[in-house]
Amino acid sequence: MKTQKISPSVHYVGVNDRRKSLFENQMPLPYGVSYNSYLIVDEKIALIDTVEEGYFDIFLQKIEAATQGRKVDYLIINHMEPDHSGSIRLITQQYPNIQIIGNAKTFDMLKGYYGVVDNLLEVTDAAELILGEKTLQFYLAPMVHWPETMVTYLKQEKILFSGDAFGCFGTLDGGVVDTSINLDKYWGEMRRYYANIVGKYGVPVQNALKKLSSLEIDTICSTHGPVWTEHRAKVVELYDKYSRYEALEKGVVVAYGSMYGHTEQMAEVIAEGIVAGGVSKVLLHDVSKTDLSFVLADVFKYSGLVIGSPTYMNELFPGVAALLHKIEMRGVKHRIFAAFGSCTWAGVSVKTLVPWAEKLHWHIVGSVEEKQALKAEKYQQCYELGLKMAQAVLGK
Ligand code: FEO
Repeated sequence: MKTQKISPSVHYVGVNDRRKSLFENQMPLPYGVSYNSYLIVDEKIALIDTVEEGYFDIFLQKIEAATQGRKVDYLIINHMEPDHSGSIRLITQQYPNIQIIGNAKTFDMLKGYYGVVDNLLEVTDAAELILGEKTLQFYLAPMVHWPETMVTYLKQEKILFSGDAFGCFGTLDGGVVDTSINLDKYWGEMRRYYANIVGKYGVPVQNALKKLSSLEIDTICSTHGPVWTEHRAKVVELYDKYSRYEALEKGVVVAYGSMYGHTEQMAEVIAEGIVAGGVSKVLLHDVSKTDLSFVLADVFKYSGLVIGSPTYMNELFPGVAALLHKIEMRGVKHRIFAAFGSCTWAGVSVKTLVPWAEKLHWHIVGSVEEKQALKAEKYQQCYELGLKMAQAVLGK
């Protein structure tokens, strides 16, 4: 077996998961996902993170191909979520003298998840570990994505092992480094990954970006997706924008629930108004059809959001309520908003949606509610709501 090399001393020893349907048992994986792990070979050998337990055999084969009969001296744990820590116990059985490097919070989780309490070396911010010619430096990056998360910097080669930061869904199909693979599938999957996994932690991501801004970084090795070299500035810029909740583009997401098509018809008319108003990027999502992880990714991308719901059991339609919960959990900021809905006898949805957006301090353009089927007066109001959304999005 041969391993792919990131630099003269760094081997890629991660794996692809093409079998899992739902990441964290929640988010669909149409392109799969990779669990990235890296091995630095010097006078001492250091392994950075592991992989899901079910992939241990292929993981170990890769490690053995890179180590050529030598033992692994250090395991550096940047992140304890089980997609990366799942093989730790097996690694400690394979290499009984391995020294495990992490911070106090890492070791609490290590004990709790795996009962591992021996051969631990605790590091604090900016601590260094000399491997021989190479030196590693550690920086704590709490809440990117868990409290124990940290990143590791290989000083001589200017490589940042960034944990989940700058990661994305999507397997690595034959190549690992961004310059040697087709990147098309990763950009949307990076946004969906960020919005769903890290999206709540905008402030910690900003703090980490500030802390790391003084480092010279030529290569970013994340725990998921490609190794970033040529595109490293772009991925840092994207993470900076996402973590400030800054929309990437002027456009409008129209997300709605609909049982018999009446609320959907309102969505169609609002969309026509938006396009007539000069905004071509309009994305309609039926929350019963499109998995909410994709809707959320579009909410992070576009500046405008229109949400529609029928009144259902005197509340919002369940799929719409779930979307609201996802957005609110992540504290999405600075969106231009409108609401619409329909009911048969008593309207609750618009009365719920507008105060919800007010609570988020969004700019609210207006709302329309119809009783039963869409009729001429409310049809016109929907169209005009679309025009107003377009004006607001275009800053007119
Ligand atoms: Fe890929 Fe937060 O673990």
